Amino acid sequence: MSAPSIVDLESPGCTDAVLLGDWHVVATSAEIGYGDLHATTLLERDLVLWRDREGEMHAWDDLCVHRGARLSKGFVKDNRVVCPYHGWNYDGEAKCVFMPAAPSEKPMKKARAIPHHVQEKYGLVWVCIGTPAHDIPSFPEWDDHSYKKVVCGPYRFRSGYRAVENFIDASHFPFVHAGVNGVIDDPDPIAPYEVYEDDQGIYSTEVRVTQPYGDPRGIPVIAYYAYRVFRPLVAYFKKRVVIADPARAHEGDEADRFCTFLTAQPVDQTTSIVRICCAMNFDPAPSDEDVRRRQDLVYAQDSAIVDTQRPERIPVELRYELHHRSDLMGQKYRSWLKSAGVTYGAFGSL
Ligand code: FES
Ligand SMILES: [Fe+2]
Repeated sequence: MSAPSIVDLESPGCTDAVLLGDWHVVATSAEIGYGDLHATTLLERDLVLWRDREGEMHAWDDLCVHRGARLSKGFVKDNRVVCPYHGWNYDGEAKCVFMPAAPSEKPMKKARAIPHHVQEKYGLVWVCIGTPAHDIPSFPEWDDHSYKKVVCGPYRFRSGYRAVENFIDASHFPFVHAGVNGVIDDPDPIAPYEVYEDDQGIYSTEVRVTQPYGDPRGIPVIAYYAYRVFRPLVAYFKKRVVIADPARAHEGDEADRFCTFLTAQPVDQTTSIVRICCAMNFDPAPSDEDVRRRQDLVYAQDSAIVDTQRPERIPVELRYELHHRSDLMGQKYRSWLKSAGVTYGAFGSL
C-alpha cells in the first residue's frame, strides 16, 4: 500500500463511489506537451499532469511526499519531474530516483509520487482517482472520418450537473440564445418527446426547434436534437439539421448532422469546467475558428444564466423545483443521478 496522502487527511472531498470510479476530463490533450507541469483539481484533489518524452500522459497528486510541496511548481528535466523544494526527481513510474542532498544514495522505496489512472481520448485527458468502474463513454462520431471534430472550451460553470442539464434542455434556446439558437418573439413550443434508459445512460427521442443561426454555417435551420447522458458529467447530442428556407436547401444535405460531446470536470461541489468536442459532417466544413467562436458565444450565454441558479447544487429530489413535460430529459437526469448514488454537488439527496 502506498503512503497515505496528506490530501486525504486534509480534506475528505468526494465519497460517492459513482464519481470516484468515474473517468473525468481534466484537460485537453493539446494543452500539455513535454516539459509542461499542468496543475488542476478534480473532486477537491489537486493533481499535476505531465507528458513524458515518449508522449505518455501522467496524472499524480500535486504533492511531493517529502515535505508536501506542489510538484506542479517544479519542472521537467531529463524526462523526470523535479520537485521545486529540495529537487527530488520522479521518473515516469512515479518513483523518486534521485535526491540531490544525497546524490549517491538510492532513494527509499516509499519515495513515490501518488499516481492516478489517466487516458487520452477524443482530444481530452481523462482521469479516474478511484478504481475505474467502466470504460470512457463512446463518442459515436469520433472514428467516422466524414465528421470534422473541434475541441472547444474550457468554459467555467458553478454546477457541472446544472451545466449538463442546461445542455439537454431545448426550451431555453429562444431566451438565453436569442437570435442564435432560437427566436425570442416566437419561441418554439416543445412537442412531447420520450426519454428512455439503457445500459449507456438515458436518451431522448428528437426535439424539434427553429434556429436562426443553429450551427457554424450561419444558415437558419430547423434542428432535431436527440440527447444522451452517458455519465453524471458526460452528455451528448446528435442534431439533425434541415435548412429552413427551401430556396437554400441545396446548400445542405439530408445527412447533415452536428454533434456535441460534453464533459464537466467537477473541481469541487460548486466549481466545474466544461469542455466539449463538436463533430459535424457539413460540406464545406466551417473552420475551427468559426466553430469555436460560436461555441464560445453560446456557452458564455449559458453560464451567465446557469450560474445564477439556486441552490447552486442541483436538487435531485423532484419535489424541489417544478417540472413540466417539456423538461422531461432534465427531470429524468435528476432521478437518474439520484439512483446512481450522486450526493456530491447535489442538493437534497440522502
Ligand atoms: S518537498 Fe519535494 S523535495 Fe522536498
Ligand atoms: Fe444553451
